[in-house]
Amino acid sequence: MRTLRSLRTGLSLAVLGTCVAALFTAPAVYAADPPLRDLAAAKGKVMGTAVTGSKLTGTYGDITAREFSALTPGNAMKWGSVEPTRGSFNWAEADQIVAFAEAHGQQVRGHTLVWHSQNPGWLTNGNWTPAELGGLMNDHIALEVGRYKGRLATWDVVNEPFNEDGTYRQTLWYNGLGADYIAQALTAARTADPSAKLYINDYNVEGVNAKSTALYNLVKSLKERGVPIDGVGLQAHLILGQVPSSMQQNIQRFADLGVDVAITELDIRMQLPSDRAKLTQQAADYKAVMNACLAVSRCAGVTVWGFTDSDSWIPSTFPGQGAATPYDENYAPKPAYHAIAESLGGGTTTPPPTDACTAAYSVTSEWNTGFTGQVRVSCSGAALSSWKVGWTFGAGQRITQAWNASCTQSGAAVICSNASYNGTVPDGGSVTFGFNGSWSGSNPVPVVALG
Ligand code: XIL
Repeated sequence: MRTLRSLRTGLSLAVLGTCVAALFTAPAVYAADPPLRDLAAAKGKVMGTAVTGSKLTGTYGDITAREFSALTPGNAMKWGSVEPTRGSFNWAEADQIVAFAEAHGQQVRGHTLVWHSQNPGWLTNGNWTPAELGGLMNDHIALEVGRYKGRLATWDVVNEPFNEDGTYRQTLWYNGLGADYIAQALTAARTADPSAKLYINDYNVEGVNAKSTALYNLVKSLKERGVPIDGVGLQAHLILGQVPSSMQQNIQRFADLGVDVAITELDIRMQLPSDRAKLTQQAADYKAVMNACLAVSRCAGVTVWGFTDSDSWIPSTFPGQGAATPYDENYAPKPAYHAIAESLGGGTTTPPPTDACTAAYSVTSEWNTGFTGQVRVSCSGAALSSWKVGWTFGAGQRITQAWNASCTQSGAAVICSNASYNGTVPDGGSVTFGFNGSWSGSNPVPVVALG
């Protein structure tokens, strides 16, 4: 299994080569934390991430498998993805994600069956009678839930049914079928897979407010009517510094109704660019959300909506904002990652955050004999006017070509130094260089040193 670590500056250039060699035999200056999924399991919680199927190789796939015990397809199971044309289905990405999860001992959270968004045009543009619409909804649920029967742990059956003031959102479903579409959808899902836990999922319902109270009243009445409802999903698309103080209390009141609660889509966005102060605040925010879940036994766990900033919906949806996930764009764990680990009882072996520049190595694509790698040199609370990055390949890999750096390889040891135009790494900034290489057998990620 690959590991990804970075070392702080302070290594003298003269000893870099020796360091690289030494690092290979003594791979880290501190022991790595156990993966989040193991820490979470020890607390009886699930730690999940949303994923994009096409990215599940290389470093992205390695981290997904190593750190998380549950996967949610970010888009692959939405109606518009699986049935873009009526009667013509595309299950490829959904199947791939389920297969990946099963291969790595991970749960899958199905997302999502009945929603107002990301529906196919043929559905939203149709002129349906209530009977036709109800039939379409029930058939869709029967087909999709039935396809994965017995294999998915949970389903977000109904997504985002409420307005901010607690009234029902006027959607295709509500307008056509009335509020009872929710009970009908849950009942259809239970019939299609009696073993899946069935959830209603929404955003801005993390704290006690009008919207979460409407959700609470709905769940209460569904329970009273005997409608199958097992849990509520609190999406938790949060803003830096704005974790609701009533989150634990809110989770507890749902638990007291006799349903599970899951944090289903956690991300914490900030105005870009990120800096050390913002990343420190974000770490505190992540920890607050984790602690709210950990404090309530019926809180099943936490899923992040993408684990890396390179796979987050935030920048395209909230212009100017981003850096919302626990790993940066180059797969280096951010303070938020360590905060999650600490909340789960790990993190004791992690060095405290200090002002530093770091280098992080990742494999961005890989084919039968070749691969493309990338190294990002990032600074926070420090800056560089030139840099060198070194590592020792562990499995006979050879660099064939590099860009945005000049690289030399001697035996297994590689040293790359900045090009004439990218030696400067400002405080809060980063520089990336890339290379192609050859490999055979395996292509493990090396430990990199920044000098
Ligand atoms: C988002 C995806 O992450 C994006 O890739 C897509 O373009 C839009 O939808 N609430 C939800 C998720 O329930 O399905 C949404 O996912 C984010 C908000």
